[in-house]
Amino acid sequence: MKLDIRTVAFFSSLFAVAAAHENQATTKWPTPEYHTLPPLREQAEIQDAWTQERRDNIPKLLTKYGIDAWLVSQREYAEDTAFWSLKWAQEFSSRRRTTLLFLANPSDDTPYSYKWVDNKGTMWAELRDVLEAQNVESIAINNHSLIAFSSGLHAGELEAIREGLGEKWASSLVAEPMLGVEYIGTMPAGRAEWYRRLQSTVWAAISEAFSEKVITPGTTTTDDVRWWLREKLQQMNYTTWFHPDVMIVDETTWESDPIQTDPPRRLIRYGDMLHVDFGLTALGLNTDTQHLAYVLHPGQTEDDVPQGLIEGLKKGNRLQDILISQMKVGRTGNEILKAALEQMHNEGIEGKIYSHPVGDWGHSAGPLFGMFDLQEGVPVIGDLPLLSNTYYSIELMVRHFVPEWNKSLNFPLEEDVMWDGDAAARGDNPWKWAIGRQEKFHLIRTPAEASENIRGDL
Ligand SMILES: *[C@@H]1O[C@H](CO)[C@@H](O)[C@H](O)[C@H]1NC(C)=O
Ligand SMILES: *[C@@H]1O[C@H](CO)[C@@H](O)[C@H](O)[C@H]1NC(C)=O
Ligand SMILES: *[C@@H]1O[C@H](CO)[C@@H](O)[C@H](O)[C@H]1NC(C)=O
Repeated sequence: MKLDIRTVAFFSSLFAVAAAHENQATTKWPTPEYHTLPPLREQAEIQDAWTQERRDNIPKLLTKYGIDAWLVSQREYAEDTAFWSLKWAQEFSSRRRTTLLFLANPSDDTPYSYKWVDNKGTMWAELRDVLEAQNVESIAINNHSLIAFSSGLHAGELEAIREGLGEKWASSLVAEPMLGVEYIGTMPAGRAEWYRRLQSTVWAAISEAFSEKVITPGTTTTDDVRWWLREKLQQMNYTTWFHPDVMIVDETTWESDPIQTDPPRRLIRYGDMLHVDFGLTALGLNTDTQHLAYVLHPGQTEDDVPQGLIEGLKKGNRLQDILISQMKVGRTGNEILKAALEQMHNEGIEGKIYSHPVGDWGHSAGPLFGMFDLQEGVPVIGDLPLLSNTYYSIELMVRHFVPEWNKSLNFPLEEDVMWDGDAAARGDNPWKWAIGRQEKFHLIRTPAEASENIRGDL
């Protein structure tokens, strides 16, 4: 991939700032910028290089879990979840029956991967021949009942596999959920640079959405901002994996499970605290970010943000630090959740943690650290071990009493971190913010001469 001078300058400034962060209490993150995507042909080359690197790692992955082969088989439009992370950029679905076989220890000069696209049934004999020739004893399939990334094998396809393999080879089928989880969850190093650009674009879009360029108090609704973000992505040739949420934070915000309700459409007014949950999709990658904004009254400046709100955000930042300090590779998600919540309570903070891997999917493969309504631990997925070389969305909230408003509010925040292998090798915190984390409110400013009187309702 080509790097122009401006991009190089951007990334070196990013690293300089990140290094400074280690020693400073207050942080100045790089100014976010919109990054445009290269032409489609170039995008395909970039993505295929990542896919090649990940596929080349499959034999090692199989060896790690003591499995001889991995069979990922599907029919057009009934793809295994793992297929989407194995396919090449020019593939838009599987065709006919598409069967992929990967081997841990291919014999001399034979490939580690095979692919059949078949509608005559002739592939089964060829597949059996490969298994025979390669002395395969165990064949992993993705038939787990609870982990999506290891359960993409369709029920009918499993029957076809059993029949096609015959009794001898069907009895070699095994389930190893970590194959799908680690293959999909682990990020090739080359992705880091683009992931930071995508995140910078997200920050730029949120900064613009949460500004007087987009929001006129008394006129703009929360829905207007949601659709503005969607249109912005469209203009930028990005897409997304969820419709953005924008809401006015009040005492009811995120008191119940936010996944169950669409935030109400409301008119934005002076003095509102706003929240956004926004992510984008490009190059086979996804991001997930939540930020807060404050709508200043006419003529007000940064100094007029209520101190209680500033302290709520700071408390949220503290909980982010607590969680990251507990994210030790090899610990299970539930162990990390428990330790972080314990430390949170010891520090007198009230809050919730519901963080997840991010990457190939918005909610990607790997252990969860809590879910909104599962603060005691997440069955099965929470018991997976934390892997290195993954990206995580640090998603959480604190509850904080705001004296100026005489009420307690939830401060939901979300920011993505990426594994930094060099920091890990030095024994430093290996989880680095993709671009930074929100430490100051986005502000919507209005000139002093504007009227405080805005129309009452929607
Ligand atoms: C998945 O397949 C393996 C091998 O046939 C079997 O042992 C296991 O019970 C299956 N799991 C489920 C959930 O069906
Ligand atoms: C989006 O794609 C169109 C069509 O290829 C192109 O003309 C335009 O410049 C792209 N916009 C951005 C912001 O990259
Ligand atoms: C603050 O709110 C509580 C009820 O939540 C109320 O009892 C109290 O009078 C309020 N205090 C002020 C100063 O308004």
